[in-house]
Amino acid sequence: MSGSDKGAFYITTPIYYVNDKPHIGHAYTTLACDVLARFKRLDGFDVNFLTGTDEHGQKVEASAEKAGIDPQLFTDRVSQNFRDLTEICNYSNDDFIRTTEERHKIACQKLWQVLEDKGFIYLGSYAGWYAVRDEAFYTETELTKSAEGKFIAPTGAEVEWVEEPSYFFKLSAFEEPLLKLYQEQPDFIGPDSRRNEVISFVKGGLRDLSVSRTTFKWGISVPGNDEHIMYVWLDALTNYLTAVGYPDEDVVSYKKFWPADLHMVGKDIVRFHAVYWPAFLMAADLPLPKRVFAHGWWTNEGQKISKSLGNTIDPLALIEQFGLDQVRYFMLREVPFGKDGDYSTRAMISRVNGDLANDIGNLAQRVLSMVFKNCDGKIPEHGTFSAEDQELLAKAGGLLEKMRNDFDKQSFHRGLESVWEVISTANKYVDEQAPWTLRKTDPPRMGTVLYVLSEVIRQIAVLLQPVMPQSMEKMLGQLSLSADQRGFQTLGTPLVSGTEISKPEGVFPRYVEEE
Ligand code: MSP
Repeated sequence: MSGSDKGAFYITTPIYYVNDKPHIGHAYTTLACDVLARFKRLDGFDVNFLTGTDEHGQKVEASAEKAGIDPQLFTDRVSQNFRDLTEICNYSNDDFIRTTEERHKIACQKLWQVLEDKGFIYLGSYAGWYAVRDEAFYTETELTKSAEGKFIAPTGAEVEWVEEPSYFFKLSAFEEPLLKLYQEQPDFIGPDSRRNEVISFVKGGLRDLSVSRTTFKWGISVPGNDEHIMYVWLDALTNYLTAVGYPDEDVVSYKKFWPADLHMVGKDIVRFHAVYWPAFLMAADLPLPKRVFAHGWWTNEGQKISKSLGNTIDPLALIEQFGLDQVRYFMLREVPFGKDGDYSTRAMISRVNGDLANDIGNLAQRVLSMVFKNCDGKIPEHGTFSAEDQELLAKAGGLLEKMRNDFDKQSFHRGLESVWEVISTANKYVDEQAPWTLRKTDPPRMGTVLYVLSEVIRQIAVLLQPVMPQSMEKMLGQLSLSADQRGFQTLGTPLVSGTEISKPEGVFPRYVEEE
């Protein structure tokens, strides 16, 4: 966490089940959070960016059993894969929480106690359907029957009949308060399609929620009744509180960061975050997060991704093939964030070679090479700016505001589109101004043109740091900008003529397909 003057910003990813190794879906959610966390830090916020692993429950217990390993050992191992992913993808998370940590057990048991003391938890017995894959309960009406006669949840997960003593949370008491919340805070759920979905789900009526299980052991026990293990979603959602210090509500991190500004989730887990979670918090009299945003799902070359089809996308393999920043850019640019999207090798290559190698890569390489060769390796002096110069500079100068607006709505693709509009204007400007001709005919004008272009490249590189940190570090390094000259507050401070630049080297290589 870094010092700042704009206040705090707390952003979270879902915590990932450790039943399997990380796939594109995990990389995607965390990437979006990473980009926003980096953006906010550069924009002067004190950011707390949390990710981690969801390690309890029947699904994880079953995976450990299948692997023939003790669940703790199993979760240690698989959780490490997720931690490794954060390193490999260059995520800037401030914390990595595991639900098997002691701090989390304390937080969960305390929250349970508060809910019980306030009269929102009671003992009863559950008889109904449960899908281990989703760790979710379903009503009979939600189910369909498969060709083999098995009952299937709307998510495609198989359900099993469960009958056991269970504690219940009085979710039914929160129908009205939740509807009021969605109405009074229209930004609480994004995008709108998901908001509407949640509203109609709640309007359909809420039944009390079973929040404990007795038929397996891998979880946090209910305070005062060891026979019961807390429902894994109550356990998991609490991680957002644990990480900032709950139950100590006086600790600095809690005071500074709770309530969270944004819970980023996939569309499959909106209900848990936008219905159950605010209900638990309301019941406990705790402040509610400000926003839950759900992104869509990736398909692979037009096909639903599934383990049985064997078409899962391994983020590490993609990075190996195309480069880290290329993959980071692709994921946020290719698909409007919030919608489903398709991964295809063709689309990836087109982004890598088109947007990156040709558009921004060539722009920087052409301009900085000319500065290096023709201006003695220094940012040139400039004369009075022409209308074209001013137009381009103004276009670049308007980007921060646009990106702020778009990124605050999680419209990452829009923000990036605006940057690429400026890149394309700058490329046209190079061709029209033809500085290589000016070199002979009007060297001072060449200096002005190259100054304008270098300045625009600086602005673009500063703004693209959140999405492509390593590549932009190289580009800003070539412009000899030090670490304290890279924050958004420096955008209004133009390049200083006479500054020596480093020998430019291509930042975005073309991807050449193997024969
Ligand atoms: N453990 C719960 C979350 C608890 S949060 C308190 C969970 N874990 S998960 O490992 O299944 O999470 C998966 C995340 O990856 C979800 O946000 C999900 O939407 C996302 N994706 C899984 N497959 C995906 C795609 N094919 N495409 C994009 N994201 C997908 O749910």
